[in-house]
Amino acid sequence: MTKTVITYGTFDLFHVGHVRLLKRLSKLGDRLVVGCSTDQFNELKGKRTIMSYEQRKEVLESCRYVDGVFPESNWEQKREDVLREEASIFAMGDDWVGKFDELSDIVEVIYLPRTQDISTTEIKELVASVKQDKKQELLNVCDHLMALATRL
Ligand code: CTP
Repeated sequence: MTKTVITYGTFDLFHVGHVRLLKRLSKLGDRLVVGCSTDQFNELKGKRTIMSYEQRKEVLESCRYVDGVFPESNWEQKREDVLREEASIFAMGDDWVGKFDELSDIVEVIYLPRTQDISTTEIKELVASVKQDKKQELLNVCDHLMALATRL
């Protein structure tokens, strides 16, 4: 019988932490399906993504470790998803420890350690700080040019 693993996430700005998690999850069974948070659901969670749901889904589908992607549009759908996909393992990163234990009557619930030092939030912060540095550099050039102009 096919052993299906199910997981969930936003997977915005797909990064190596995502790849490593999906790789480890795919090794736990024969088939890995991913519930990808929709834009509306993210809005509800107060999360704004750079990539749209369609783009995030397309990237996930092109990942060799992923066999299927479906929309995650609310907090309550997980029990139904597990039954529909006939999943035998429900797995999440350990930032969710304990949060889904109530599903353990129908599926094995596990939490895997996250990859250190990378997250979508950190990538966004890094890009924002690079943008800020560039802005400051431009402001410095402007100040310099103004100072030169006043001396002419
Ligand atoms: N994940 C991981 N290692 C990381 C980042 C994420 O194992 N360094 C896992 C999460 O635990 C989750 C899945 O990847 O099970 C999807 O996480 P997601 O929230 O989309 O990614 P993050 O990078 O954590 O995004 P954010 O910073 O917006 O929370």
